[in-house]
Amino acid sequence: MSNRMWGGRFASGPDAIMEEINASIGFDQRLYKQDIAGSIAHATMLAEVGILTQTDRDQIITGLEQVRGEIDTQSFTFSRALEDIHMNVESRLKELIGDPAGRLHTARSRNDQVATDFRLYVRDAIDTLSAQIRTLQLALVRRAEEEVSTIMPGFTHLQNAQPVTLGHHLLAYVEMLGRDHGRFEDARKRLNESPLGSAALAGTPYPIDREMTAKALGFDRPTANSLDAVSDRDFVLETLSAATLCALHLSRFAEELVIWSSAQFGFIKLSDKFTTGSSIMPQKRNPDAAELIRAKIGRILGALTSLMVVMKGLPLAYSKDMQEDKEVAFDALDSLSLSLAAMTGMVEDLRANRERMRASANAGFSTATDVADWLVREANIPFRDAHHITGQLVALCEQRGISLEGLTIEDFKFIDHRIDSRIHKVLSVEASVAARKSYGGTAPENVAFQAARWKQILTGETSEPVAIKKSGGHGHGDGGATE
Ligand code: ARG
Repeated sequence: MSNRMWGGRFASGPDAIMEEINASIGFDQRLYKQDIAGSIAHATMLAEVGILTQTDRDQIITGLEQVRGEIDTQSFTFSRALEDIHMNVESRLKELIGDPAGRLHTARSRNDQVATDFRLYVRDAIDTLSAQIRTLQLALVRRAEEEVSTIMPGFTHLQNAQPVTLGHHLLAYVEMLGRDHGRFEDARKRLNESPLGSAALAGTPYPIDREMTAKALGFDRPTANSLDAVSDRDFVLETLSAATLCALHLSRFAEELVIWSSAQFGFIKLSDKFTTGSSIMPQKRNPDAAELIRAKIGRILGALTSLMVVMKGLPLAYSKDMQEDKEVAFDALDSLSLSLAAMTGMVEDLRANRERMRASANAGFSTATDVADWLVREANIPFRDAHHITGQLVALCEQRGISLEGLTIEDFKFIDHRIDSRIHKVLSVEASVAARKSYGGTAPENVAFQAARWKQILTGETSEPVAIKKSGGHGHGDGGATE
């Protein structure tokens, strides 16, 4: 009977509402491959230890493979009344093979089943994302190699600070992505234990072989505590937190691409493939892909937050709350995957405007630190005094509307007599970046070295980072300025 209190949509009353809130088949059908793989491993093991006959096992496996084929080809009809993927598969198996289907669920529960399925799913997602991160890193390294000596402004506070090379800037993201890759791999290691056979929460009286199912599903070992195994979602949370950090890195890079592609900066041109025009302003080339990547962290962090809150305070063992783990995780992992693909495409396609970058690097007295460093190095002036003298030189330039390179040697000597004509050698942006040879610094030769190091790692020529080159850094005077 319909009751107005339930709301118009639920014409048939509380049963319909219960079905709608309870069912997960609308989203957990994504787990069908993992669910069927888990069931095949389970049936094989049950037969091996004598719980199932070989005939039953064979019928079950053949039937499960047929179900998988039906879902693959979209000829399977999912039923919401059957709640979730586990019961949809089992019910269809019953239709196909009859009684033996009822023996499959011996010594397991949907609680260990869903925990197993979801671990398998997240493990696959990690493998995909890890490979995508490597692809993006390689794309960045290749661009960095092309731009080892392309000079651009380095910023602090988004104000011109010191010149750097574009290659160096791109490799900064390669480092971040390297850590992201490491975090996914770490999460994978801890994830890779099999909950299957933990049953509802307490284990099972049947003489099952959990090592066997663990091995069949590619897990390193079975989980050691059945209560933990069915209530743990750390593997999703760790993966989502790695995903959030990766999305955060992508959002920073995306923001830079947005800024760099603006008319005011004009550092890069993004290809038509990753931009859109405006319906009203014909001149526009909007960096939509970059903007969307910048935004995706919202839902990815949202997924992490959402699941953290769902899990918080849940008593052991399984509670239905945990069914809320999947939609947000699917969405977050899909979003990151798409972002990585789009970012890779943009990196491959973008064109750097080298002249524009160099001109911008040259503005704003960006080699002032080099002048101060010269005073320290060549005139033995303490850095704090050198900083003050350089400030006076900059003020003189500002007064006259010229750059540091526009000062004559007389101008320099007027400010401080200890300066001589050798100062001219450090005033150019080229000299500035070339001098920054300290390990990890922006000098083109360092960038080439780091690009080569990463290329070796990424193309599998070595699994270990190559040895750190012996420092090319100078003693005093090098990198003497900190903020
Ligand atoms: N659909 C459920 C989930 O995703 C499967 C586990 C159900 N277990 C239970 N005891 N109701 O969490």
